[in-house]
Amino acid sequence: DKDYVLLAIETSCDETSVAVVRNGREVLSNVISSQIETHKKFGGVVPEIASRKHVETMTIIIEEAVREAGVNLAEVDAIAVTQGPGLIGALLVGVVAAKSLAMALDVPLIGTHHIAGHIYANHLIGDIVYPAIALVVSGGHTEIVLLEAEGKFRIIGRTRDDAVGEAYDKVARALKFPYPGGPHVDKLAQEATEEVVLPRSWLEPDSYDFSFSGLKSAVLAEINRSRMKGETPDFSALARGFQQSVIDVVTGKAIRAAKEFGARQMLLCGGVAANRGLRERLSSLCEEAGVPLLIPPNKLCTDNAAMIAAAADLKWRRGQFSSLDMKAEAIMSL
Ligand code: KG4
Ligand code: ZN
Repeated sequence: DKDYVLLAIETSCDETSVAVVRNGREVLSNVISSQIETHKKFGGVVPEIASRKHVETMTIIIEEAVREAGVNLAEVDAIAVTQGPGLIGALLVGVVAAKSLAMALDVPLIGTHHIAGHIYANHLIGDIVYPAIALVVSGGHTEIVLLEAEGKFRIIGRTRDDAVGEAYDKVARALKFPYPGGPHVDKLAQEATEEVVLPRSWLEPDSYDFSFSGLKSAVLAEINRSRMKGETPDFSALARGFQQSVIDVVTGKAIRAAKEFGARQMLLCGGVAANRGLRERLSSLCEEAGVPLLIPPNKLCTDNAAMIAAAADLKWRRGQFSSLDMKAEAIMSL
């Protein structure tokens, strides 16, 4: 089979990323320009600013990715891009850039689902065995996805309110950490010697859905209670309590899904997959259950374009291309 090269673009939120991937799995470059420093002072991502930043950096990042990969633009066989879901203004910048490149180079355009990207990041580090259960945990998403076969996704559970990363970021703010606070809460929880036991939100017994807003409120209520009593809230014990509750529920449901659907593999993905406590618990539960676990390295867990190339590769191999009038979609089904 002939070698082929995909150039992928990801701009769904606050990372401008371009990757060049050979034969669907060999990452030649994966350039990520984060806007975190810009958004930090606002305590979260400001959509309008995100779009403008993408416009400013897009061509620079494309050039950098191509240079780093050591390929010529003329050697690129197709352009992949995150079509959705995400911030519409941010997505549009990537989609317009991708269409322009596809048109100029006269190669196919492949619109890709952001979550399929997070899931197929795992394909860059190992072989996926089906059926598989993917636990997608990021700042914008919390889903349990059943992969019955390659590219065949079925969402069996999702959050009904906050995404896990979003809950981490909100709790982090209450604990006075800067945005994005997930890693800070994680660190504090690891160091804690005490734990404030907080509720677990299991929802209906057979449900794979999640809810984290009650847990977040429980943390805020504990802080207020301490202050009313004139005491200093124990932030590390709260961070630990929050983290333990999240990990219990998220891993508990993922393992139950793996058993129910006879999964031959578990895939962890999304920015929160960087959480050490989560990785460790899921590893030991998977080992107990005899289900092999794949977790991409952090750089492939947070938003990046290499994962978009990995997901686009499924479509490339089937010749499923998008037309040049493809639209970015803020909400998009998997
Ligand atoms: O996947 P991602 O880069 O962006 C989205 O698509 O949302 O995920 C970012 C999220 C943020 O909410 C961040 O606080 C969280 O992942 N995060 C963590 C950790 N590292 C990043 N949450 C908990 N523990 C961590 N170690
Ligand atoms: Zn993401």
